[in-house]
Amino acid sequence: MHRLMRRTHRALLLCTLFFELLQCDEVDPQTCADGNDSTEDIPKSNSMQPPPPGAVTSGARPPQREAYATAVFANEDYVCGALVLATRLRQLDPEIGRSRELACIVTKEVGQEAQDALRSVGWIVYERELTPHPIPLETRLKLSSAESFEWVYTKLQAWTLPYDKVIMMDSDLLPQPALNIPSLFAKKQLSADINHPSQPQWFNSGLMVIQPRNKTFEEMAASRFSLKSYDMGDQGFLNNFFAGIWKKLHANVIFTSDAVVHANNWKKQQMNSGDITARLREFGGLHYFGFKPWTCAARCANAGRLCSLDGQQRNVMRIAKRYMSWMLPEANFLWWEAAAELPEELLAICATKEKFHCPIPIV
Ligand SMILES: *[C@@H]1O[C@H](CO)[C@@H](O)[C@H](O)[C@H]1NC(C)=O
Ligand SMILES: *[C@@H]1O[C@H](CO)[C@@H](O)[C@H](O)[C@H]1NC(C)=O
Repeated sequence: MHRLMRRTHRALLLCTLFFELLQCDEVDPQTCADGNDSTEDIPKSNSMQPPPPGAVTSGARPPQREAYATAVFANEDYVCGALVLATRLRQLDPEIGRSRELACIVTKEVGQEAQDALRSVGWIVYERELTPHPIPLETRLKLSSAESFEWVYTKLQAWTLPYDKVIMMDSDLLPQPALNIPSLFAKKQLSADINHPSQPQWFNSGLMVIQPRNKTFEEMAASRFSLKSYDMGDQGFLNNFFAGIWKKLHANVIFTSDAVVHANNWKKQQMNSGDITARLREFGGLHYFGFKPWTCAARCANAGRLCSLDGQQRNVMRIAKRYMSWMLPEANFLWWEAAAELPEELLAICATKEKFHCPIPIV
């Protein structure tokens, strides 16, 4: 039964893709541009707004609408991540605010003040409803301990954003100059990196090139009850939805949990903290797996020290102990270095999110 549904789904998806290719050939070859993102010969509107529906464009095709996107949902935990992500993206792509936009999905749990902060760094805020998990919590907990996946399907609403192409990112991902991120707009849906060298069959949904369509979103929303998710999250679902279709990006983004392993080897080679930081800069991006740098004191990261929990916090946050081993001062430093570009009042917001402190006071 499941296999049949999956096959039918895949056939449908292939049909849709084929139809889109046909459509592109006839109507808008630019949307289907492969490997050549040049729009030099296409007149561009200086306005950030797409042309009004029904607007007559004299001969010229409207340029592809492009955006970088992220999602902050269910609570405000990732607001600081999104603030720094926007700041970094603006440094990496001067087209932001001209031909490209920053799009942030939020749900109503993200308060007005946080939304204003997001807008002030350039995000255009798109309010959406929370998408409930298709599997009841009780069943989920029996199958795995994925306690934080309650609302992750909300990320699928990236497919409703009013753009032709979107680079969708988790807010705990920090792109670096080594990744020529604007060049990713030349890639097609769905392009992403493998999840992990040990799991090359799956892609990681933390950075994806997608082509939004409400129809695709509706199909996802409908099939989320029948299509399995190997990790109980959006990533497992998307891997099933785009099985056999997705393409590898080679963005060279590293999980900070893996960076810790690398750093331990580098330390054995007598590398000092500065060398390790330099090595980390060579990656296309850092994906802060588990431990979030904005929950650690900046002064701690800047001093190259690990953050620490006091006894009470240790009891309250049992899983935080696991995260401790994934903290890498050099990786945290790189995030706070990017955060330093924020206006002071926003930096202050992030500083209040601090949950961890330095083991030894720094004066
Ligand atoms: C992309 O297309 C433009 C305009 O047609 C052309 O000038 C340029 O050389 C092409 N670039 C690549 C990498 O093919
Ligand atoms: C989806 O629908 C909304 C509401 O009608 C519209 O604003 C948006 O542009 C649509 N998105 C796409 C990708 O077609």
